[in-house]
Amino acid sequence: MSQTGTAETLAKQAAKEAGKRGFAPTVLDMAAVTAVQLAQHSNLLVITSTYGDGEPPDNAKALHSELSTFSSQLSTLRYSICALGDTNYTLFCQCGKDFDLRLEKLGATRIAPRADCELDYETAFAAWLDTALTALGSAATHSSLPEPEEKPAYSKQNPYPAPVLAVRNLNAPGSAKEVNHVEFSLEGSGLVYEVGDALGVVPRNCPELVSAIITALGCDGEEAVSTPVGELPLRTALLQHYDLGKPPRDLITLSHLTEAHHVIDVLLNSDVKFSPATFITTLKKLQPRLYSISSSPKAHAGQVHLTVGAVRYDLHGRPRKGVCSTFLAERALAHGTAGVFIHSNKAFRPPTSGDTPMIMVGPGTGIAPFRAFLHERAATGAKGKNWLFFGDQKANTDFLYREELAALQSSGILTRLDLAFSRDQKEKIYVQHRMLETAAELYAWLEAGGYFYVCGDASRMAKDVDAALHKVVETAGKKSPEEAAAYVQSLKTAKRYQRDVY
Ligand SMILES: Cc1cc2nc3c(=O)[nH]c(=O)nc-3n(C[C@H](O)[C@H](O)[C@H](O)COP(=O)(O)OP(=O)(O)OC[C@H]3O[C@@H](n4cnc5c(N)ncnc54)[C@H](O)[C@@H]3O)c2cc1C
Ligand SMILES: NC(=O)c1ccc[n+]([C@@H]2O[C@H](COP(=O)([O-])OP(=O)(O)OC[C@H]3O[C@@H](n4cnc5c(N)ncnc54)[C@H](OP(=O)(O)O)[C@@H]3O)[C@@H](O)[C@H]2O)c1
Ligand SMILES: Cc1cc2nc3c(=O)[nH]c(=O)nc-3n(C[C@H](O)[C@H](O)[C@H](O)COP(=O)(O)O)c2cc1C
Repeated sequence: MSQTGTAETLAKQAAKEAGKRGFAPTVLDMAAVTAVQLAQHSNLLVITSTYGDGEPPDNAKALHSELSTFSSQLSTLRYSICALGDTNYTLFCQCGKDFDLRLEKLGATRIAPRADCELDYETAFAAWLDTALTALGSAATHSSLPEPEEKPAYSKQNPYPAPVLAVRNLNAPGSAKEVNHVEFSLEGSGLVYEVGDALGVVPRNCPELVSAIITALGCDGEEAVSTPVGELPLRTALLQHYDLGKPPRDLITLSHLTEAHHVIDVLLNSDVKFSPATFITTLKKLQPRLYSISSSPKAHAGQVHLTVGAVRYDLHGRPRKGVCSTFLAERALAHGTAGVFIHSNKAFRPPTSGDTPMIMVGPGTGIAPFRAFLHERAATGAKGKNWLFFGDQKANTDFLYREELAALQSSGILTRLDLAFSRDQKEKIYVQHRMLETAAELYAWLEAGGYFYVCGDASRMAKDVDAALHKVVETAGKKSPEEAAAYVQSLKTAKRYQRDVY
């Protein structure tokens, strides 16, 4: 299923098309389905993304784990899987592959081959849906590809060139980090968002990197190359349309190398001389990046704000820059606009009632959606209690939005702020340590119906915070590890434990 909403949107699109073809489809969130219930269905289309290192998204975890030990047969079930993923991850589409294998082992019939979709999923998804629905057989005769949903004028396919209003570094001089607060105008675009949504940003590649690539190819950049949007000068094509990060397999193979970090490393290390046309055909499309929105439309009408950590590191004697985070940091303001679209995330929302307590864990850039949640609660006069756990390296240089948070505290919106600055003392102090220190109160907030939110680093922080949450429930709730796991699972099922991790 879905972590950031793509699979969910596609599932709804699939249901609409299935309805047109005479089926009576139901869209189910995997979190609400058990293996026994699956056995009662006869036709099943599964659309799922993959997270972490080949793991299921949060709302598919329970079913994924249940199916791995399920022993009854699903012999009346006919199914097909559409797996969403990203080939930059080693375990590409692993969750979809797992479901496919497991359903087959349990005796279900695969009626159409699995589709493993890249980030550019539109064509593969449409082809898969057509094949799968045709294979399921239909009462109706309609057999066209799915019609697009009613789309807003601006979308991922047609991003809005949003004026860049401000880019402000949130760190003080001397910081090892560079996090920028970025503001765009959405005035007149017709784009609307809710707190919890993400913004897609279309970046441009670094002009110096593009020049280095053109030089390494022995070109001057004026050579005409054919691209999906027509014929363009090589320089324009490289600046705007192609991913110059991790080299695609085709480029590695043609260059007779075994591996390389970036496309430029291939050109500098290979003896093969590429023509601009051959080179271009090996490259993948430059993809937009998603950022958790850090503003509330109720507090900043007509604007959308982001909190973006600049990715910079050195490798093999060459400074490397993350494409989008440094485009925003260095060039977006001067460029004037950036292509943006709203990426809705219904799985990450403040409680419907403004009276419900919120516990928010957002170290580093993970603070982004919680700034939005807090501003929203201030703007709507919501009375519920709000508790934020924030952390970063050093209080003096990395206390993001310090003044704003102080103002939200003074006005009574931010009830409690617990800080974890990891490098202000010898031993590391992280947000999860603060959670454990305040276990009794945290548990009391949960018992009072509180919602628990986590945003930020997926690979380390979110896992440790999850473990800490289990510990809090165990110690303060006097529960066994199994009882604590059931308690946390019940929070997830009730959508009171929501994560936006990346
Ligand atoms: C739903 C969602 C919400 C997000 N919200 C935010 C947010 O609010 N704020 C935010 O800052 N980011 C956020 N991100 C992350 C963001 O989308 C980008 O991934 C991030 O900005 C990096 O993109 P980039 O184009 O700058 O870097 P890229 O060009 O994509 O480069 C990043 C890649 O560089 C490599 N790399 C990085 N560091 C090193 C190193 N030290 N050594 C070797 N290789 C390295 C890794 O392969 C990494 O994947 C979010 C992501 C998602 C999916
Ligand atoms: N995979 C990686 O190695 C890596 C490293 C850095 C950033 N990132 C990515 O960079 C983006 C932005 O990161 P960011 O700079 O905003 O935040 P960040 O790197 O997550 O740092 C924010 C704070 O979290 C601390 N932290 C480190 N490990 C933690 C853990 N296991 N549990 C709890 N807190 C932990 C950091 O401490 P210390 O820095 O003192 O350890 C720092 O104080 C994210 O996408 C993140 O995934 C990834
Ligand atoms: C933190 C993170 C981890 C991911 N891990 C994987 C992975 O291991 N394998 C993969 O194929 N795709 C991975 N992806 C890509 C997602 O599966 C892909 O973006 C998908 O379209 C998201 O769909 P959703 O919006 O429905 O969650 C990852 C994405 C993120 C942000």
